Amino acid sequence: MLKLVVCVSGGGTNLQAILDAIESGVITNAEVAAVVSNNANARALERAKQHGIPGILLRPGDYPDRAAFDRAFTEEMCRLAPDLIVLAGFLVRIPGEMVERFPDRIVNIHPSLIPSFCGVGYYGLKVHEKVLERGAKVTGATVHFVNEGMDEGPIIAQKAVEVQEDDTPQSLQKRVMEQAEWILLPQAIDDIANNRLRVEDGRVRHI
Ligand code: GAR
Repeated sequence: MLKLVVCVSGGGTNLQAILDAIESGVITNAEVAAVVSNNANARALERAKQHGIPGILLRPGDYPDRAAFDRAFTEEMCRLAPDLIVLAGFLVRIPGEMVERFPDRIVNIHPSLIPSFCGVGYYGLKVHEKVLERGAKVTGATVHFVNEGMDEGPIIAQKAVEVQEDDTPQSLQKRVMEQAEWILLPQAIDDIANNRLRVEDGRVRHI
């Protein structure tokens, strides 16, 4: 049984997609052991509570500096000892020391087709604003392993979504979630839980 710790910052619809997929059997051999949030008001914490999953609050502002937060965050993860850390709308940079401790064991969902519209400053609704500003006709979502770079780790899966003429950032975000994110992330977790992929030379091979 793959032990998951899911990290969240806000609404938690991707967390919900994971919990629903476990309940319906779309994800097998995996369980959510804890949900970590940097935001006390995250709706995601409510969702965790409703499922009897412990919620853990870890806020950078509660520590004297970033290094102290990074250390505490990494120590907490080591204490929880997950097989896989899932960043499901988690808007805090992952400390390098945590990446070292969990190589190829952290996955992230990003709401664009990486390497487009990603990196520093591209998160949440901002991604969709930039897609519309640029006039892109296709966008989508990407699930990838996390390395020391920002949105640069090996890509596990991607799905394209059409941009419509009358889209707002909100309508585009909703379509990308419905048509891509909530499908891709549970699928990737199921693939990992059932040993259907591995990383070779910095690329993901589906086996
Ligand atoms: C999702 O669209 C996720 O892809 C994005 O934040 C949103 C969280 O929604 N993540 C990033 O932008 C990471 N760079 P949720 O809390 O409802 O799952």
